[in-house]
Amino acid sequence: MSEHGTESAGEGVSQPGTTARLDQGDIEGSGGIPERFTNPGLPPHVPRSADLDEKAAHRAERQVATLFGISMVATVIFLVAYFAIDQKTYESIPGIGQASLSNVVLGVSLGVSLLCIGLGAVHWARTLMPDTEVAEDRHPQRSSDQARRDAVETATSGRAASQIGRRPMIKFTLGGALGLFALPLVLQLAGSLGPLPEAGLSTTFWRKGMRLVRDPEMTPIKASDVTLGSVFHVIPEGIDTSAHVLEEKAKAAVILIGIDAALIQVPKERAWGYGSMVAYSKICTHVGCPVGLYEHRTHHLLCPCHQSTFDVTQNCAVIFGPAHRPLPQLPITVDAQGYLVAESGFHEPVGPSFWERG
Ligand code: FES
Repeated sequence: MSEHGTESAGEGVSQPGTTARLDQGDIEGSGGIPERFTNPGLPPHVPRSADLDEKAAHRAERQVATLFGISMVATVIFLVAYFAIDQKTYESIPGIGQASLSNVVLGVSLGVSLLCIGLGAVHWARTLMPDTEVAEDRHPQRSSDQARRDAVETATSGRAASQIGRRPMIKFTLGGALGLFALPLVLQLAGSLGPLPEAGLSTTFWRKGMRLVRDPEMTPIKASDVTLGSVFHVIPEGIDTSAHVLEEKAKAAVILIGIDAALIQVPKERAWGYGSMVAYSKICTHVGCPVGLYEHRTHHLLCPCHQSTFDVTQNCAVIFGPAHRPLPQLPITVDAQGYLVAESGFHEPVGPSFWERG
């Protein structure tokens, strides 16, 4: 037994129960596994045919250019198919069955385009770019100034070594393939946003003469039904016949409030109301929650989402919270039967203040 309590056996493999000597490094670790291995070094460099034969290099160049060229063709097919093939055209595709022809052609052409760029780059690297293995010792995190200069020089010389300057076919076809490949991405982004919102965001279903009906009962409201302090959740009559009922309701919801006209401090508010009734958009001007809480003693309307508070006596001005503008008022009157009707639509966009900027 040695003085360290370790006993080497035969070829330097520890016996069970003994402690391996790790302090001498290259002898052995635990379990008979060497603690360190001899650095085998790099295998000798074997030149490739393109390194030795200019004809082989030209052949490789043509192969790389062909792959980039196929990528360009596939991208052009994608662009043409995007416009030319109706999305509702379905065909029987072998191995897939009935499928949207547009989806299949777009997917395959985009896949081939990207694949050929990848294959071209790999083939270029394997045949023409330098393949000499280089080992670099570890060094402190910040390189020395000299190393930095060397890195810049290496990058610069790498360009020359890649032969991109000498091989214009590769340069131009790669540029073309990468440049064209960006177009489908832009096209999909721009083409898939759907139709422009146009006036839909700044107008509502309300029109002159439409009755105010209870939500959700859809029953009309007589002026005599509205007592002081009462609140009605209201939508326009006929909104259920709209092609987009939920979207329209989300914009047209109104809150009708019975309030003593003498308390109203803004002449326009009194003029747009009817007797002791005023109607305001229920869509909060902060981020669009329904403003449904009315405190009849303070005459405040509260939005439950972020506590914006609107004063009904001051034309629903914001007196607290993150909303930036008053709730839009709906002008109201009564028809010949005494039912409350809109005197017009809203005079401004409802909902978050953002829409005012449109
Ligand atoms: Fe009304 Fe935020 S949505 S306060």
